[in-house]
Amino acid sequence: MSIPIITFDGPSGSGKGTIAIMLAKKLNYLYLDSGALYRSVALKIYNEYGDVENKGLDYEKIIESMNIEFRYDSKNDIKIFIDKKECTKQIRDENIASLASKIAKIIRVRESIEKFQKNYVNPPGLVADGRDLGSIVFKNAQIKFFLTASIEKRAERRLKQLKDSGISANLPDLKNKLLERDEMDMNRSISPLVKPTDAIEIDTTKLNIIEVFEKVSMEVNNKLNK
Ligand code: DC
Repeated sequence: MSIPIITFDGPSGSGKGTIAIMLAKKLNYLYLDSGALYRSVALKIYNEYGDVENKGLDYEKIIESMNIEFRYDSKNDIKIFIDKKECTKQIRDENIASLASKIAKIIRVRESIEKFQKNYVNPPGLVADGRDLGSIVFKNAQIKFFLTASIEKRAERRLKQLKDSGISANLPDLKNKLLERDEMDMNRSISPLVKPTDAIEIDTTKLNIIEVFEKVSMEVNNKLNK
């Protein structure tokens, strides 16, 4: 029997990460934050080479020799380690997110990260979130969700997340950065952010986390128990 995979795609601040983690915990599945992979690669390349879009860089070699780990701390929160060093806070910076979106346009980067994502699939199942998981990476996923929300709501949520993790930001600036990133992620030629044709779409603008999670859980129960 194949290992069940549930994907969540959508723009930043749509709620996909929060809901995907809650669902993974409920089902006892593994959780993969694919945005954290792009952010980790961007951080490493930025720190070591400065320019992330340098044609001379051997992206495959850099990514394949990198050690990216997701570890759970005593509170069951996920911490990101790059080459054994904790980088959870550094990768959440909105400037690193912009660099992640830039490297995400490079085919060699996407191919190497795709390998990592596919190797991550393990029993009893996987919940993964990102931009192209249901459309490209895990086309055969059993259940696919596509989450959206208004730009105002997404910026508000991102501001709260950043503040909660001790990172300073302001709303108008954040809104512009999210719009810039949406533009890059939706209009790139490879694996753009799109709604997979067979995905369940949820607009989370007027819903709180519990309401979104109830809708998602209902769909998952229906599909997994069929
Ligand atoms: O989900 P996030 O905001 O952490 O993602 C950061 C960037 O990484 C996003 O703007 C584009 C890129 N990304 C991608 O291209 N494909 C994915 N599956 C996940 C993220």
